[in-house]
Amino acid sequence: MKLFIDTASLQDIEEIASWGVLAGVTTNPTLLSQVEGDEDDIYRRICELVDGPISAEVVADDVPTMVSEGRRLAAIHPNIVVKLPTMAEGLSATSQLAKDGIRVNMTLCFTANQALLAAAAGAAFVSPFVGRYDDINEDGLGHLAEIVEALGQSAYDTEVLAASIRTPVHVMEAARMGADIATIPPKVFHQMLHHPLTSAGIEQFNKDHAARLARKDA
Ligand code: G3P
Repeated sequence: MKLFIDTASLQDIEEIASWGVLAGVTTNPTLLSQVEGDEDDIYRRICELVDGPISAEVVADDVPTMVSEGRRLAAIHPNIVVKLPTMAEGLSATSQLAKDGIRVNMTLCFTANQALLAAAAGAAFVSPFVGRYDDINEDGLGHLAEIVEALGQSAYDTEVLAASIRTPVHVMEAARMGADIATIPPKVFHQMLHHPLTSAGIEQFNKDHAARLARKDA
């Protein structure tokens, strides 16, 4: 499973990219609203930081605006993927953009049927939301598993991009069930990395190394 970062914070993207683990970035209007600056400049900078698909979301209700805004975003950089919502207009816009060779990530996907429609319309990625199901007391990972299974059995190449990831367990389970990608908030990257036994082990190795050096110098 490939790891994307789910943020528009350049600082966070730069930090996690420096680990050498990032294969892409997803943003959304909420994440962009948390950072200062011109949106297109932010997308350009992200494209410099990470060499992989960078999702930029269109906010529009009608097909012509979705298509023209999608084309405008895709022209910013070859790695830009246009993010569109899973709704009738989003499907039509996806199919038009896909015919132009523009990759689309269909977002706010909650069911296997929505994912199949997105794939049939030509979406390169479909983003099932996990955490938002958990928020309403439903099994987000269970729904993700249905989508992974349904698309896996289909003829489409659409990649399943697990989104609305809130915990390291979400990441691990998405990987175990065969999701193609998980897009992960910066905080969860840190939670994935840290383990008390790793920290304790490093501390002990450092102490033992220092003790050896001290004996050699004595
Ligand atoms: O980018 C879409 C998704 O990851 C949003 O997550 O935590 O706002 O449900 P969340």
